[in-house]
Amino acid sequence: MARYLVTGGCGFIGSHLIERLLAAGHEVRVLDDLSTGKRENLPAGVPVSVGSVADAAAVETAMAGVDGCFHLAAVASVDRSREAWLETHQTNLSGTIAVFDAARRANPRGPVPVVYASSAAVYGDNPEMPLTEDAATRPLSAYGADKLGCELHARVADGVHGVPTTGFRFFNVYGPRQDPKSPYSGVISIFAGRIAKGESITINGDGEQVRDFIFVKDLVRYLSAAMDTPRPGAPVFNICTGRPTSVNRLAEVLAELSGRKLDRRYGPARAGDIRVSIGDPARLVAAFGMTCDTPLEDGLRETLAWL
Ligand code: NAD
Ligand code: UD1
Repeated sequence: MARYLVTGGCGFIGSHLIERLLAAGHEVRVLDDLSTGKRENLPAGVPVSVGSVADAAAVETAMAGVDGCFHLAAVASVDRSREAWLETHQTNLSGTIAVFDAARRANPRGPVPVVYASSAAVYGDNPEMPLTEDAATRPLSAYGADKLGCELHARVADGVHGVPTTGFRFFNVYGPRQDPKSPYSGVISIFAGRIAKGESITINGDGEQVRDFIFVKDLVRYLSAAMDTPRPGAPVFNICTGRPTSVNRLAEVLAELSGRKLDRRYGPARAGDIRVSIGDPARLVAAFGMTCDTPLEDGLRETLAWL
């Protein structure tokens, strides 16, 4: 049994990770500013410190005595990073440096490992598909630029300060507890929430943009496995399926599964939107010996059932 800090643990992905860690018998505590996360996402009894990762003292306190940290706190919306550039940077990059820095001193036995969320957004408009981890990084958004910054600082954490880190470039994650009401949420939760109620959806641009959607319960298995076996050299892995789905197709499948007629409107394309994002999972599968195997329709059914 180990003791872990999960930053952003009250959020969508964090809450699924915590379920998994608790089931494995670990002790968990959370640092979260509750900006998008909710305490109700967590089982009773998980201690939550309400504070920001951009506050170095709050991070230091939350990290004291842990055996490792899962760092998921971030402003996860690309759109929000466009509206609030400097503010989101303070969380998404400065907050990550605060986490790596505190990991140096967290435990009297020495620096503790950090497993952190990067993003497919680091690839930006790179047209090589599917994207391998060696593909050029050309972020289009402040969000993607900051996630790339996290990876660069992870190398510093490892090489200069002896903090073992593992970064994961999550592609588009979906599943229960992704907030359907927030305009800053992921496309699946927004569409699922509206289509299930018979409301219209807005497709940004022509809807032929493509994403690689991963079910959240597949994803969290990699995070816990990475903590169990820290690797040298600050490695970074894609978490993806390698399977493309267009936004138009996604809307059609959701309408079919919820037995509703699809009412879709087309709006302007989103500034800084990526056109095609499909990852190559080969390195992930080779390192961890498991695939993201939940079929999209099964994951969507489970998401709709949760609403
Ligand atoms: P989420 O918004 O549900 O979770 C983020 C959590 O971080 C929330 O609980 C929020 O309250 C908290 N938070 C935000 N700013 C904070 C701050 N300054 N200090 C402390 N806590 C703060 O989003 P999510 O989808 O669960 O995202 C988790 C991580 O995964 C993020 O790092 C995100 O960038 C990354 N990611 C998500 C996706 C996706 O498709 N959902 C894809 C790639 C990467
Ligand atoms: C998402 C994640 C981001 C992550 C990235 C990795 C969220 C909120 N964002 O960004 O954290 O790093 O994946 O690949 O989870 N769309 C519509 N109509 C809507 C909402 C969205 O057409 O109402 C379109 C968008 O324009 C975009 C696509 O759906 O083309 C996906 O959008 P979104 O779910 O916001 O995800 P990303 O921007 O890919």
